[in-house]
Amino acid sequence: MRSFLFFGFVLIACHLGVMTFVGKPQGGAEARSPAPASAQLDYDPIRIRPNDEGDTGELVYLRYCSGCHGVKGDGKGPGAAFLTPRPRDFTTGIYKFMSTPAGSPPLDEDLLRTITEGLHGTSMPSWRFLPERERLSLVRYIKAFHTEWQFRPPTPPIPLHENPVDLEDQAAIEKAIAQGREVYHKKTTCWTCHPAYLPRADLEALTGSPAREQLELALAKPDHWGESILPPDFRRDRLKSVQDLRDLYRVITAGVGGTAMPTWKDSLSGAGLWALTCYVDSLRPASRSTTQRKLKSLKEAAGR
Ligand code: HEC
Ligand code: HEC
Repeated sequence: MRSFLFFGFVLIACHLGVMTFVGKPQGGAEARSPAPASAQLDYDPIRIRPNDEGDTGELVYLRYCSGCHGVKGDGKGPGAAFLTPRPRDFTTGIYKFMSTPAGSPPLDEDLLRTITEGLHGTSMPSWRFLPERERLSLVRYIKAFHTEWQFRPPTPPIPLHENPVDLEDQAAIEKAIAQGREVYHKKTTCWTCHPAYLPRADLEALTGSPAREQLELALAKPDHWGESILPPDFRRDRLKSVQDLRDLYRVITAGVGGTAMPTWKDSLSGAGLWALTCYVDSLRPASRSTTQRKLKSLKEAAGR
């Protein structure tokens, strides 16, 4: 609710910014008679004018994004000081949610996905209502804040394997969840940052060593931007970049750039990563969990 109200505030701030931008007389424009006040307050997207190359990115950015991300793309918009986490500074070129290895440029489709879906549980809203043409022009515009990219060869995305688990087969889903539970607690020890979801005695028996204090809580970790962020508790917290199982698989495989969340692409096979994905998904609240929904309907169908 708070971030919703805040978002309203930022949109107004953005509009005021654009008013100044659009309303500023440039060169011979002073000679023209001023537009009537009602016309100046008209924000119909049709009024967004393309630049010489036909790109609308700059105006769309100034209107909707600069209030948080700053006119210079440095993450220092008028609203930024009130937000945790802070809006991204685009000038460093470091992004969180991408399908290329951390430190390399994201794919355009990664940025488009974030802009379209927003980041759940943060103040970064979904911009699905903007036409795709404008969202693509935003991708080009924010990439240009980090100029070094143009000198680097594009990096291929990390491999994203197809899901080998048959989601129409109850036994297959249950097997994957059980395998994933073991991977999570024994092999990849995700609970060193996220919570553990086993009783202490079971966890210590599984790993053969003493586990950390307060196992049921996540441990806050510093990020690249000097903030401390809490890894999510999957039973409760919204996952920022996740709409479906594939998004969950991608973020587990690729990691989260600029944060402690590592990539797991080299530690596990495609099947191991998918088992882990099914397990983490099964922990989520019922309304967001694909595996719980599938298991429920398969059990109902079997009982009929
Ligand atoms: C109300 C504030 C707000 C507005 C308005 C806003 N953002 Fe964001 N945005 C954020 C915050 C906060 C984050 C960082 C979230 C995090 O670090 O988890 C973010 C992150 C991002 C990211 C980085 C994602 C990544 O992988 O690191 C992109 C890209 C982005 N925003 C694009 C945009 C665009 C384009 C617009 C305008 C159409 C926009 N944002 C408007 C708050 C905002
Ligand atoms: C060294 C600490 C650390 C370890 C180990 C770790 N994570 Fe994370 N993880 C984080 C942090 C920090 C975040 C929060 C990133 C953010 O919100 O920007 C995170 C976020 C996530 C997210 C949420 C992504 C989103 O879209 O919000 C998922 C899913 C996740 N981790 C899964 C895992 C899994 C599965 C493992 C084990 C294979 C694991 N993590 C191991 C620190 C860690």
